[in-house]
Amino acid sequence: MLHTRICDILGIRHPILLAGMGRASTPELAAAVSNAGGLGVLGAAACGPNQLREWIRRTRALTDRSFGVDTLLPASVRRAGANAGGPSAEEMLPQHRRFARDFLASEGLPELDAAALDEQLNRHPADRDGPRPLSREFFEAQMEVVIDERVPVYAAGLGNPGPWMERLKANGTVVLAVVGTTRHAAQVVRSGVDVVVAQGHDGGGHNSPVGTMALIPQVVDAVEGRVPVVGAGGIGDGRGVAAALMLGAEGAWIGTAFLATDEAGISGPQKQALVDGGDEGTTVSRSVTGKPARMVKNRWAAAYAEAGVEPLPMPYQGIVSSQVTAAALAAGRADVWGGFAGQGLGMIRAVRPAAAVVQEIIEGAERALRRAGSWQVG
Ligand SMILES: Cc1cc2nc3c(=O)[nH]c(=O)nc-3n(C[C@H](O)[C@H](O)[C@H](O)COP(=O)(O)O)c2cc1C
Repeated sequence: MLHTRICDILGIRHPILLAGMGRASTPELAAAVSNAGGLGVLGAAACGPNQLREWIRRTRALTDRSFGVDTLLPASVRRAGANAGGPSAEEMLPQHRRFARDFLASEGLPELDAAALDEQLNRHPADRDGPRPLSREFFEAQMEVVIDERVPVYAAGLGNPGPWMERLKANGTVVLAVVGTTRHAAQVVRSGVDVVVAQGHDGGGHNSPVGTMALIPQVVDAVEGRVPVVGAGGIGDGRGVAAALMLGAEGAWIGTAFLATDEAGISGPQKQALVDGGDEGTTVSRSVTGKPARMVKNRWAAAYAEAGVEPLPMPYQGIVSSQVTAAALAAGRADVWGGFAGQGLGMIRAVRPAAAVVQEIIEGAERALRRAGSWQVG
């Protein structure tokens, strides 16, 4: 059986971690992965504090195994300096909202009112009057829930969890940080995280300028054995897990491969778009959150690229794009917004239960490692 240091640190059977994917990694998906012997991680980036508490409690009802919570802590937003010195993003907002309205009209999609928007984005009614999503106050309110609920594992998907480390550690929470550069890896290790996730350019969602194959060994070297490294980005099957282990990682953080599952919190048309997509089916764009993110090729990102318009910084671009993504979801238009996904897209053949995906990945990794072990060296 494949067993690494990560299994002991996280209290899991297989060194397979479900990536925290905003809205997609739901309590049902996280619990299914934990119950199958991996670590389920909630994609809580967009959850307001009330929804986050509900998700944590729902996960606890679905599994008695360990699980994690992933949120974002981007330094640019936490410094409240996203637009410091430059043109005011707040002032630019109406112009971008007009761009979104014109785009919706050109696609024949209606604008949603606030209630319909919340419904599409699955927002908890009690969070409607809370802090603006993806703002500094929003991130801080999420962390209070993470600490109050004493979750077993916390993952910072962006940024440095340093300011919260003391309280997380006092709770016995194992802390992961997702990084895309060796510089960022060194920072989070100095802050005392337990595990570093090295996520390369191949991955879905916010990602690194550096490809996974080159990033993993460089992060492994940068952390100098002080903490284990988990590889991420484009790992779509057992061969990818085996390759990450060869590069010095001790586990894999996997997103896209778990998107085409019965339990994933994305729509039917989005799942079908994943099955239909191929290796060239993704693009990187700032048009959704304001930070570069890999996503299924879509008409909204293409419209920004064609217009040559610079998206706003986080959190402002999310205010603009949520109108479009919600309208596209309501209409079942995965061509307008298919969701984030990584370059492993072409490995997805069907929508299956998450437990089947875990099992296939583990069996594939063991096969690949046995094959490598059978080669003659020297
Ligand atoms: C649909 C989707 C949503 C994502 N949302 C988040 C997020 O909210 N927080 C985060 O840390 N990473 C997010 N990511 C990145 C993943 O955590 C992970 O690093 C990535 O999926 C790994 O690459 P792979 O998709 O090729 O497996 C997201 C990825 C996808 C595909």
